[in-house]
Amino acid sequence: MADLSSYRDEFPILARRNYLISASLGPLSRRARAGAEEHLDLWERLGPEELWLDHGLPRLEQCRSSFARLIGADTDEIAIVPSVSSGLSSLAGCIDWRPRPHVVLSAMDFPTNHYVWRAQEARGAVPLVVPSHDGIGLATKDYLDLVDERTAIVNVNRVLFESSFIVDLPPIIERAQEQGAWVVVDDFHGSGVVPIDVHALGIDFLLSGSLKWLCGGQGMAFLYCRRELVGDLHPTVVGWFGTRDPFGFDRSELLLRKDARRFETGTFALPQAWTASAGIELILEVSVEDIRARSMELTAVVVECSDDLGLDLLSPREPERRGGLIRVRVPGGPQGAERVLHALFERNVVVDRRGDALRISPHFFNTPDDIERCFNELSRALLAG
Ligand SMILES: Cc1ncc(COP(=O)(O)O)c(C=O)c1O
Repeated sequence: MADLSSYRDEFPILARRNYLISASLGPLSRRARAGAEEHLDLWERLGPEELWLDHGLPRLEQCRSSFARLIGADTDEIAIVPSVSSGLSSLAGCIDWRPRPHVVLSAMDFPTNHYVWRAQEARGAVPLVVPSHDGIGLATKDYLDLVDERTAIVNVNRVLFESSFIVDLPPIIERAQEQGAWVVVDDFHGSGVVPIDVHALGIDFLLSGSLKWLCGGQGMAFLYCRRELVGDLHPTVVGWFGTRDPFGFDRSELLLRKDARRFETGTFALPQAWTASAGIELILEVSVEDIRARSMELTAVVVECSDDLGLDLLSPREPERRGGLIRVRVPGGPQGAERVLHALFERNVVVDRRGDALRISPHFFNTPDDIERCFNELSRALLAG
């Protein structure tokens, strides 16, 4: 097994808690804390001009370029957005639904995707939902059947947030390209844990955020926009930082930037640039390929332990079909799961719950021993119930 345990000391929480929930919030690293403190020191010492221009804007650019490297894009194809919901909404507002009213998404996509596309119904969009037959995965054929010449957007969650099922992107992209539709990938559960190359795959748009697998804290998300498409997109959610000369203070016209940053709007959540850059750079240092290898080994241990306890596995059994988390059903419905979750918290084991199931999401710094200890406590909690 790839030994990445030398990174454990980077995350102080691991000395106190068995942290198995990076799918929800990646833990704070020493580097990210040092970055946050650097920002506070600068803020304490400097006025806005020096803080923002000499330090803040370069740090934001570092975030864009690191995220671009992570997904195989170029820096000018990345916009910093406040959240995936907000970036996706800005993008949705650019679509002319008259020639092509359909947006295809799946029943397993994160709810925010549904809300964003439903909000577009008022502008003429017709959402079509790919069903899941087992509550775990999605059939590629079901996507292909819905994509035709009336499709404007195919919205894909590359790694499903509940089950961690990995959607087979290439045939969906091929079909979308044949039909002249754009593919938007919500990659919140992929970036940083399952390698991706947006150029090689021909993805049109991708969104992700820093707080989960990237261990970069809250308040920063990214929108990748394929360079060739930028000129065709005219956001109606705009602001001065998306214009060509924000510090020109010209009111006479709206001149949006010629790169993906036309999707940027107002003043950034600047302190997050220090934690986000630290998180993404740590992930790049370890390498997503090595993280993926380690993650597949660790999730295999989760599956083994859950089988030993006789729990229902609600994630794919084949390692290559799943991302970094495993979902297991515990007895007693949602209330039983909530009770077990809190019993685990009391024993310093941190996982989370969706419905009647626990989500266990080890990251590269976890060990098989963490997982075995988690299941020992889980077994004890179940017996106590
Ligand atoms: C797949 C996916 N997309 C979007 C979101 C929500 O992102 P945001 O809060 O940045 O809008 C989440 C949050 O967990 C998610 O898992």
